[in-house]
Amino acid sequence: MKSDSERWLKENAENVLKEVGIRKSQIVLDFGCGSGYYTIPAAKIVCNKGKVYALDKDRSSLHEVIQRAKSQKLNNIQIIKTSGELKIPLEDESVDVILLYDVLHSYYFSVTDRKGLLTEFYRISKPNALISVYPKHMDSEDFRDEMEEANFHFERKLFETLLHYHSLEQDYLLNFRRK
Ligand SMILES: C[S@@+](CC[C@H](N)C(=O)[O-])C[C@H]1O[C@@H](n2cnc3c(N)ncnc32)[C@H](O)[C@@H]1O
Repeated sequence: MKSDSERWLKENAENVLKEVGIRKSQIVLDFGCGSGYYTIPAAKIVCNKGKVYALDKDRSSLHEVIQRAKSQKLNNIQIIKTSGELKIPLEDESVDVILLYDVLHSYYFSVTDRKGLLTEFYRISKPNALISVYPKHMDSEDFRDEMEEANFHFERKLFETLLHYHSLEQDYLLNFRRK
């Protein structure tokens, strides 16, 4: 990884997620967590009273998350390996924050599948839970309509320096709240 990305992970990632609204003791789902660019800083913020579920269908990405967590002595990350199914193995109304970073696009999900997933996100999230989206490779206006239909209201748009694949980008995040 390039050194500016490594520096961002060490010095800026936590601040970005604090700006997003993640707080100590919360339960977070990082859906499609990849290698954990956002899982690790989220776990540092929520501390030991909180927990981050790192869910992905890709075994090697999850292996990277485990290695990163070990090297930083983080014990509050629970890995969830799926086969890409839309059903999420978490209880109703059990999650404070869901991160959907660079994952909900058409490369992975049809409109119908995304609708099914949004229903799952509604089921597992607590009332007023935060749903933060990094809307890469998609039309964010259409997506905002889909979120409203799924009972998530738009809260705010943030402009941040973000890690996308292995490079830093200035880009938007969209925050929603579960109704
Ligand atoms: C582009 S990566 C983004 C990773 C991470 N969120 C980030 O922003 O760095 C998308 C991730 O979503 C995962 N993914 C795609 N479809 C999925 C599904 N149906 N269930 C679980 N994970 C999925 C992929 O395996 C991949 O790791």
